[in-house]
Amino acid sequence: MDSFLIRGGNRLKGTVQISGSKNSALPIMAACLMAEGKSTLKGVPRLSDIDSMSKLLGELGCHVYRHEPADDRDGDGPALNGPLDIVVTDERMCEARYEIVRTMRASICVLGPLLAKRKRAIVSIPGGCAIGDRPVDLHVRGLQKLGATFRTENGNIVGEVHGRLRGCRMYLGGAQGPTVLGTINVMSAATLAEGETVLVGAACEPEVVDCANMLNKMGARIRGQGTPEIHIEGVESLVGCEHRVIPDRIECGTFMLAAAITNGELELKRCNLDHLIAVTDRLEEVGVRVERENGTVFVSSARRLNPVEMTTQPYPGFPTDLQAQLMALLCLADGMSVITERIFPDRFLHVGELNRMGARIRKEGATAVIQGVKELQGANVMASDLRASAALVLAGLVARGTTRLDRVYHIDRGYEKIEEKLAAVGADIERVKE
Ligand code: EPU
Repeated sequence: MDSFLIRGGNRLKGTVQISGSKNSALPIMAACLMAEGKSTLKGVPRLSDIDSMSKLLGELGCHVYRHEPADDRDGDGPALNGPLDIVVTDERMCEARYEIVRTMRASICVLGPLLAKRKRAIVSIPGGCAIGDRPVDLHVRGLQKLGATFRTENGNIVGEVHGRLRGCRMYLGGAQGPTVLGTINVMSAATLAEGETVLVGAACEPEVVDCANMLNKMGARIRGQGTPEIHIEGVESLVGCEHRVIPDRIECGTFMLAAAITNGELELKRCNLDHLIAVTDRLEEVGVRVERENGTVFVSSARRLNPVEMTTQPYPGFPTDLQAQLMALLCLADGMSVITERIFPDRFLHVGELNRMGARIRKEGATAVIQGVKELQGANVMASDLRASAALVLAGLVARGTTRLDRVYHIDRGYEKIEEKLAAVGADIERVKE
């Protein structure tokens, strides 16, 4: 298991290329299970979660091939990742095994596509994870309303469809609000259902819109994506297409926070600030300057950081996937900040680790009260999940002394070459192989 050694104190300055979105690419790859012919996806980041999804698609009879990077450079930036081709060559396999689902919960995205196209799916039930209980009841309920039947068998969800799925009008929200992957799963399946499906209470995240846009290129008839009411007119079949995934808004937000916490100046390329409006709003309140020009964002920070209040919400609210990273910044604000987690109320494993670095954070239920301190100190800390790890990297960048972050495989799931990108703009960070 690799670790990061981070010697804090350097101001970050320079240009960072933002990668394609992991959370867009994963369900889009799964949706390719429904297409006839070849699909070519561009901008898919090189991450261990993408490797896991490629492996899963391979087990489900797809040929997945990554092209060499194109010599399609943007200024001094790195070459873009080569496109990913996905072709379904055998439709007999229908099982997502525990060994893969265990490492990547997004494996659940194959449920809807398999049921719609192959009429049968066996998906290991994803257990809880470091960010809390993560049920899939809304996925199952939505697909049941389209006519699929389910049973559980030896830790698996076994779903079947007799004939064809049938469109209907349904409410898809849950106690915690809409579900992102649940919306994508049911929306994807409904593209091949008979008649019209209306999803009320759908998630509005940009990743849902990206998947709907890709499905429409394949011949689906989806409208209303990006609003809480999505209409899907079922079609007989889908054909492979070419699609570029959207930029990773969470990676972009993490680098915005990296500029802010190090009192640095970063130019972030290939990103879409429209997807980060709530994040920009909070950062400006803290005292961070955010400017944009076309697809480039300039972030610079004042030395004094104002405390703020923030509650995570479904899109377009502040994303839960940047909660931990914002908390790292607010540890150094001049006063008391309050963060409330509305999406995953237990997503606070970073609190204890940040406190070990000298932060003063008190947790009360789903709320954390952060009393700003003058400085953080390097320490040996442990990554517990992807975004918590990113928060500890940010804290390490500004802490006095050396931070050793263990278990960085969590961060490799979702940040493409994060240590190389940070080192290129002045961070003192190195990967230590065990
Ligand atoms: N929920 C249910 N039942 C369900 C599904 C969800 O109760 O069947 C609840 C969840 O427990 C949670 C809320 O609904 O309280 C929202 O969860 P959602 O379903 O939207 O989460 P997800 O689709 O499983 C995706 C991202 C997460 C991100 C969340 C929220 C991917 C692969 N994952 O998960 O990303 O935090 O949306 O925006 O797209 C990450 O990248 O680090 C990550 C965890």
